[in-house]
Amino acid sequence: MTGVRLHFDDGDLLAQDAIRSVVRQTYGAAQPTDRRVADRFYAPDELLGLPAEAANMALGVGNPVHHAGLRPGQDVVDLGSGGGIDCLLAGRVVGPSGAVVGVDFLPDMVGRATAAAAEAGLDNVQFVEGPIEALPLPDESYDVVISNGVVNLSPRKARVFAEAFRVLRPGGRLAIVDLILEHDLPPEIQTHPAAWAGCLSGALSEIALYKSVRRAGFREVSIEPLEPFGIPECALYPLFGDELLALLRARLPVERHNRIAMSVLVSARKPAGDERLAGRARE
Ligand SMILES: C[S@@+](CC[C@H](N)C(=O)[O-])C[C@H]1O[C@@H](n2cnc3c(N)ncnc32)[C@H](O)[C@@H]1O
Repeated sequence: MTGVRLHFDDGDLLAQDAIRSVVRQTYGAAQPTDRRVADRFYAPDELLGLPAEAANMALGVGNPVHHAGLRPGQDVVDLGSGGGIDCLLAGRVVGPSGAVVGVDFLPDMVGRATAAAAEAGLDNVQFVEGPIEALPLPDESYDVVISNGVVNLSPRKARVFAEAFRVLRPGGRLAIVDLILEHDLPPEIQTHPAAWAGCLSGALSEIALYKSVRRAGFREVSIEPLEPFGIPECALYPLFGDELLALLRARLPVERHNRIAMSVLVSARKPAGDERLAGRARE
């Protein structure tokens, strides 16, 4: 077949630099707002006692800690930790015998989140600067990898899942909340920079997401629908802007206004050592 290739063979996009720079610029300029995103996705008792800035900086699309089944003593990584809300919640659950590390490629985000962890008095939560496609973390050292509305922003999702696999201990688990697309977006929305930064344009179909996680080596992969994500949800985030919201209203059929995408929980498990050997012998 001839024509322009948009993807590498593993599904990663070719236009990586452009996407990365839109995402960096958008989140580099993001400022704390009111708590509307936090109030939408977290229960009042979860938000109780959190530093105001962490709640006001919530920019995810769900609540991964609510679904992750974390236990005291576990070691957790959060991919794209932003203002740190999920790390703080995870830090409360895993307690002093566990640890949480949030990774974000923006130094300002790392600074904000570190200040929030200090304000919350959570010594077991720390933040490091780095790309989620090349985590600055050791191999096989964590029990659970969480993430909230971030993998969609990466043009190299296959690398992200490979890195999550690398840092997990055998038997470790993935619990990621993100968006999937059930139908293609019209081209003028798909290519809109704010739609990229807002997690819509980078969303995969359910089957593409499943294959990408599975190809990284994970097993027991499940993609569970959580709730529809429509124009009312997009409007919660200042980064969407009036122009993109108007474009969504104008270009999408009315029946999609409340369901542009679907938020999902991606769960998976890294096989234990003996299972991996058995799997390789079968292949
Ligand atoms: C949509 S916000 C979500 C933040 C946080 N998870 C939350 O729920 O509030 C995306 C965050 O991921 C970070 N990010 C995006 N792409 C990244 C990448 N490739 N590597 C590291 N961080 C990234 C951004 O800097 C931003 O802080």
